[in-house]
Amino acid sequence: MHDVDFRGFASDNSSGVHPEILAAIAAANGGHQAGYGDDVYTERLREVFRSHFGPEARVYPVLNGTGANVVALQAACDRWASVICADTSHVHVDECGAPEKVAGIKVLTVPSEHGKLTVENLLREARGFDDEHRAQPQVVSLAQSTELGTVYTPEEIRTIVEFAHARNMRVHLDGARLANAAAHLGEPLRAFTTDVGVDILSFGGTKNGMLLGEAVVVLNPELDRGMDYLRKASLQLASKMRFISAQFIALLDGDLWLRNAAHANAMAALLEEKVRDLPGLRVNHPVQSNAVFATLPADALAELHKLVHFYDWNEPVREARWMTSFDTTPEDVERLAEAARSVLGG
Ligand SMILES: Cc1ncc(COP(=O)(O)O)c(C=O)c1O
Repeated sequence: MHDVDFRGFASDNSSGVHPEILAAIAAANGGHQAGYGDDVYTERLREVFRSHFGPEARVYPVLNGTGANVVALQAACDRWASVICADTSHVHVDECGAPEKVAGIKVLTVPSEHGKLTVENLLREARGFDDEHRAQPQVVSLAQSTELGTVYTPEEIRTIVEFAHARNMRVHLDGARLANAAAHLGEPLRAFTTDVGVDILSFGGTKNGMLLGEAVVVLNPELDRGMDYLRKASLQLASKMRFISAQFIALLDGDLWLRNAAHANAMAALLEEKVRDLPGLRVNHPVQSNAVFATLPADALAELHKLVHFYDWNEPVREARWMTSFDTTPEDVERLAEAARSVLGG
């Protein structure tokens, strides 16, 4: 029902399913396996996640990224908690208030720099401890890669973890694009999660070639309480979980996760290289994962929308967001660059 040769730059979830993942789903089909995670695939998945995040890691597959964040934040929060995150964070901007509605958690935002939290900015809201009039700041939540395509170094995350832990707060990492961060850093996943003291994370699969499925990974055993109940009560327990687990195994038991992410990152880097010197165009953030954010003159942006499919990130300031995916080709990139050249007269 659609043109299978059409690809745009709207989102990394516009792409389909990686063939190796699709094959893994087919291979997991047939016969009967118990539902809700009592299957051989989910059992194996637990080992696979431990191999990436260390022997203490506990994985809970869920249905989507918003759900992963909502479950993870609840695991780290009391009923009277608040979560501090960047003003650009998905948790704040793009989850329809789910952390507030579903989890009853107050979300406090602080300004970010290229989508990243800093200790200086965190200080604006990390206060009022033991004040009964204030929702108690209990978690710092950061995205890796960030919503603006930037990546924290392991040291930057360690600094935030030390800041948070010194105040008895926990650190949640929204890893919808954790693989892209690893590809950029050239580090194993645990180097900027487990090894720097992150307590809990949401791990993305959908944006990296899966059909659907994300996971909550508990790294701090103290938070591994009632997770099964939290997941079910938050509507995130998949009945035929074997098919989510089989996808994650295909992604993570070899190097598919890294191949897909590295390719998507390389396509964004190529795109930036091709457009950054065009007259009137400004790339707004360091391109460190699979996104390019650029400001264009209004008429050029409107013309470009007629030629290539993408979304504006920030309409009032004429900022486009171009996302690349595991299946973006160098020819796709050239098509966008050529379209940009034509509307900008470069
Ligand atoms: C940073 C970030 N976190 C989480 C998500 C998960 O979203 P969803 O609930 O659509 O799976 C996304 C998707 O855009 C995202 O960009």
